[in-house]
Formats: sequence, C-alpha cells, structure tokens
Amino acid sequence: MKVSVLGAGGGIGQPLSLLLKLNESVDELSLYDIYGGYGVASDLSHIDRRCKVQGYEKEEEMEECLENSDIVIICAGIGRSSSDISRDELFNKNCLIIRKLVNKIIEFSENSIVLVISNPVNSLVPIVCEMFKKRGIDKRNKIYGITTLDLIRSEVFLREILNGKGIYEYDNAIQESIRVIGGHSKESIVPIILNREIKSKLSAIEYERFVKRVQNGGDEVVEAKNGRGSATLSMAFAGHRFVCCLLARLSGTSGDGAGESAYVGLAQPVPGLLHVEYFSMPLEINARGECVGVDSGLLRTLDATERRLVETAVSRVRQNVAQGQNYVSGTH
Ligand code: NAI
Repeated sequence: MKVSVLGAGGGIGQPLSLLLKLNESVDELSLYDIYGGYGVASDLSHIDRRCKVQGYEKEEEMEECLENSDIVIICAGIGRSSSDISRDELFNKNCLIIRKLVNKIIEFSENSIVLVISNPVNSLVPIVCEMFKKRGIDKRNKIYGITTLDLIRSEVFLREILNGKGIYEYDNAIQESIRVIGGHSKESIVPIILNREIKSKLSAIEYERFVKRVQNGGDEVVEAKNGRGSATLSMAFAGHRFVCCLLARLSGTSGDGAGESAYVGLAQPVPGLLHVEYFSMPLEINARGECVGVDSGLLRTLDATERRLVETAVSRVRQNVAQGQNYVSGTH
C-alpha cells in the first residue's frame, strides 16, 4: 500500500505521517509539503520500521510523489488560529491550495482514494468531486471528507458524562452506540446516541450541552492553544483511524467498514435527506475502497430533537456545497 500525505509538514501532517510510518499495512509513504516535505521524511526514515518514506517539496516532484498511490490524504492548508475564525472563513485560501493539489492528483493518481482533511470539509469535498467530474471522471465514491474527529470527540465526551455520574457499565458499548452525521462545522455536526438506554441516562439539558460540546469541540482546542493552531494530534489520530478502516477493507480483513462515518457525495437520494447531495453518514465500503452505501436506516430512528438538528445540518451543508460547486463552475 502506498499512502501519500499532502501537507505532511504541518501540525496534522507530521503526527499523521508518524502514525502511518508505524502502521504495518503501509509499505510506502510519500510526503509532500512546500515547507518541510524533505525534513519530515528524513526524520521518519530514521525510525526502524519497514515502511519506505520519501519526501517532496517541488511541484515538479509531484508525479513521483503521487504515482501508484492507493490513498492520497490532503491536509495542506490554513487552519484556525482563533475560535473567532470559522471553518467556512478558511474557504478562500484553502480552495486555491486544494485546486492546485487536486489537479495533480487527477493528472498522476486518478484512481487513488482521496481523503480530505483540510477545512472547510463541507465545501472542499464538493470542489474535489466537481473537479474530477469536469474532467469526465465520476469519482464521488472514492472521495471522503474526514469527520472522524467529531465521532471520537462524541465518544470521549459521552463517556465523560456517564463516568461523571458513576455509570461505567456502558464503557465498552459507547463506541458502538454513537454515530455522527451531517458535516464538519458547527451546527452541521449531529451526534446521534443510537443506544436509547444510554441516551436515557442524560437529561434534556445534559444532552443539549453534549451536542453543543461536540459541535464546538474544535474551539476548546483552538482556545487552549491560544493562537498556536487547532486540533492536530487528535486529528492525526482520527485521520489514521479512518485510514486503518480503509486499509482493512482493501486487504479484506474487516467486515464492511460499517460504523465509520465520512462526508461523501450521496450517489442516490436518501430518504430523509432528499435535499442534500453531500452528507457525513456511516458508510459501507467495498474491498476496492469505494463507498457503496450509507446507513440511512438510522434516520428512521431519530426523535423530534434529533430530526430538528438534522434539518439545521441539511440547510448548513446545502449552503456549503453550493459555495464549493459555484467555485468550480466559475473556474477554468
Ligand atoms: P498547518 O498550517 O500546521 O499545516 C498546513 C501545511 O500545509 C503546512 O505545512 C503548509 O506548508 C502546507 N501547505 C500549504 N500550502 C501547500 C501546498 N500548496 N502544497 C502542499 N502543502 C501546502 O495546519 P494544520 O493544523 O495541519 O491543519 C491543516 C488543515 O486541516 C486545516 O485546513 C485545518 O482547518 C484542517 N483541520 C481539519 C480537521 C478535520 O476534522 N477534518 C480538524 C483539524 C484541522
């Protein structure tokens, strides 16, 4: 397996590259960054593990970097340095960076699976899909916006609430009982506690606070880092968790990838989400790493509060998707 990380010198790129270097399933790691591509690769190459690491910094090196990649991860771009800056405000700068990189992916690594970590995920994923479409390639089922951090935060925050009440018997069940759907910014993030017995342990106010904490989880980190970046280590962990799910599917060692969510283009209209083309949903992924379905069944189980949260998420995501699509239709 060859994995390429674009933006490997950054706050997320470095720890993510370290985790990938340590991953026994990764044979080759290609690290590209306009600043730090060579340095991070040199540093990691001194770790005594089988995975071969190569660093790149120049545009003319992108062919070698990308060719034969199974998975390309995009984490290049500007992050939030203050909680006053929303992810949507990163749009103008990051879409220029994404555009440059995606043109190279189309040129040199058309068949790879593309993971988008850079923000705003809600708009950048439609940009990536539309750019492929403009070149006559429908690749929506191999482009994933990474929302795993929202899922991990939900698991951790719910465990904190339950443990704070002295309730430990669900510790092992928590990962199984949470899904996060929607998008990856503020009100577009909707955590759903599937296990109603666990949900009943939270009062209405506790549930509301839980949802808000998940939606604003990034702010906690941005504020604690006080001007020195946003979530990087937890994001690297989250990105690596999603890569592990994909690698397991590609090597045929795990079920259908069910449970892991990502923000994807919806191939068919989903009942309950009729007016949105992209959404983060629990996925079914085949052995070629293609998204072949989403678990829309969970939408039928929502209560009135969750339905309202989903409606808000749908309207946020629709605006973000339109922004991305308009950007591509206005470019040449
Ligand atoms: P960072 O600023 O530490 O790193 C970004 C890296 O991208 C830098 O090393 C920079 O040199 C590189 N870069 C810039 N332009 C490039 C280009 N044209 N080609 C190659 N590399 C280029 O930022 P950080 O903290 O690593 O965040 C990266 C992105 O991830 C941000 O957009 C951030 O908002 C997003 N993010 C996404 C999360 C998610 O859950 N999906 C969570 C946290 C952050």
